[in-house]
Amino acid sequence: MQILDGKIASQSVKEQLAAEVHQLLAAGNRAPHLAAILVGSNGASETYVASKVKNCAEIGFESTLIRLNADVSEEELLNTIRQLNEDPKIDGILVQLPLPKHISEPKVIETISAEKDVDGFHPVSVGRLVQGLETFIPATPYGIMLMLEHYKIPTKGKHAVVIGRSNIVGRPMSVLLSSNHPYGNCTVTICHSHTPDLAAVCRQGDIIVAALGKPEFVTADMVKEGAIIIDVGITRVEDATAKKGFRIKGDVAFDQVSPKASYITPVPGGVGLMTIAGLMKNTLVAYKRTLQ
Ligand SMILES: NC(=O)c1ccc[n+]([C@@H]2O[C@H](COP(=O)([O-])OP(=O)(O)OC[C@H]3O[C@@H](n4cnc5c(N)ncnc54)[C@H](OP(=O)(O)O)[C@@H]3O)[C@@H](O)[C@H]2O)c1
Repeated sequence: MQILDGKIASQSVKEQLAAEVHQLLAAGNRAPHLAAILVGSNGASETYVASKVKNCAEIGFESTLIRLNADVSEEELLNTIRQLNEDPKIDGILVQLPLPKHISEPKVIETISAEKDVDGFHPVSVGRLVQGLETFIPATPYGIMLMLEHYKIPTKGKHAVVIGRSNIVGRPMSVLLSSNHPYGNCTVTICHSHTPDLAAVCRQGDIIVAALGKPEFVTADMVKEGAIIIDVGITRVEDATAKKGFRIKGDVAFDQVSPKASYITPVPGGVGLMTIAGLMKNTLVAYKRTLQ
């Protein structure tokens, strides 16, 4: 069994990006610039946004964090996005999800200019992804593809089982794994809460991508010997013995599944770090398009 270490793989991506930014700056260009909007003060969202801002600085990107109160009106948020769309110094825009209930997420996502949609959630980005055209790939599935590429894990002809069909993880992941490219060409089964006998489906998987948000859902009896296990789940589980009062759990019962796996991503330290690498890559692409 080999651990797919998100720290190592994401560091490698970030070093390549930093070298490219260094060259661009040396040639007299401005730095790529990511704008992040955070509505309210959800603990997990605060952590994710802080990490994105920190990673921008490490690579040599500029970043702007816009904080809006949880009771901000939908129109005010949309206007903030429109201003960023118009700002020629902003290359990428992300709105940290989830949003408060009174705000429509689809409306917010559609308001972000497709040229600055570095999270890859805009219908234009999704449509292009499905058609196999160049696009912004949603950061988490993109990060997983970068991880497979970093560890040179062959996927061609394998049966991939994706658990979860969300727009941000499961569905785009299923598209990428079934696409005709070096780390695709899988036969993909996509599962959700109405899939009967999920355990039996999982046992057929050469690759399992667990993205359902249920801590330690995938157990050893659901996994075939030698499977590649990608754990996307991040859930805060209360634990009075932990310093912060909670622990981060993935969707896979790591201790019992890892002895059966050929490769496995840990949580934390796996897919989460690759998600940021994917976002940073998208931001550099957006920036280069602006330069052109
Ligand atoms: N590592 C990262 O960077 C990263 C990024 C994004 C998300 N995440 C984490 O990944 C997890 C999934 O996120 P998400 O945004 O995709 O979640 P989501 O929007 O809540 O979607 C969850 C999906 O899992 C399915 N599901 C739920 N319970 C199930 C069950 N018992 N059996 C089979 N399928 C089930 C749901 O099915 P239905 O459609 O039928 O309801 C849904 O399609 C969460 O823990 C989230 O925190 C991590």
